Amino acid sequence: MLFEMMAPFYDKFMHKVAFDHSGAIPEWLAPLEGREVLDLGGGTGINAVGLAGAGAKVTLVDSSRAMLHRAEQKGVPALLVQADAANLPFSDEAFDIVLVSDAWHHFRNQDAVACETARVLRRGGRFYIIDFDPARLQTKIIAFVERLFAEPATFTRPDDLVEKLLALGIMGSCRFLDNYQYLYEGVKP
Ligand SMILES: C[S@@+](CC[C@H](N)C(=O)[O-])C[C@H]1O[C@@H](n2cnc3c(N)ncnc32)[C@H](O)[C@@H]1O
Repeated sequence: MLFEMMAPFYDKFMHKVAFDHSGAIPEWLAPLEGREVLDLGGGTGINAVGLAGAGAKVTLVDSSRAMLHRAEQKGVPALLVQADAANLPFSDEAFDIVLVSDAWHHFRNQDAVACETARVLRRGGRFYIIDFDPARLQTKIIAFVERLFAEPATFTRPDDLVEKLLALGIMGSCRFLDNYQYLYEGVKP
């Protein structure tokens, strides 16, 4: 519901706050040339544009029709798919890279999304999550605001994320991008 309302001005909002990493993401995810990339919870395509610009074939999945409509209006160079991240309409091992940017804490069934990601990633495929550490004050404020809009705001501690994905065979680690946002980088061996 939040994103149905926010879609028309989401990009302007993101440019004003410090959550937009679209300039750096293509570098963090390099090499991208010719790679099949799934941008999960990809919204209006803020990140998909740069990924495609770096040579990736991008599939953007989002559950919000309004966010996808905005991506379409912008001409985002990606295959736009309306789906629940917990139930992906793709065959096994279809992607080289999965990116979840600022969307993990919005997923209501994170365990199912983790299983689906492990399924659609190829062997040697890479998994990236950018999210907020629930231990930090800034994240507590974000959680408070999002819950006012009935969002789950289920933030995961970096160590818990590493453990959860390891249980599914994805080996990874987290590093902080600032004092509250982190980047998880994992590989499916
Ligand atoms: C804060 S936006 C992030 C968008 C984009 N990744 C970015 O970095 O700008 C979170 C997105 O996750 C989507 N989302 C939430 N739950 C979802 C689900 N279960 N399946 C797919 N997308 C979902 C929302 O519709 C929204 O577009």
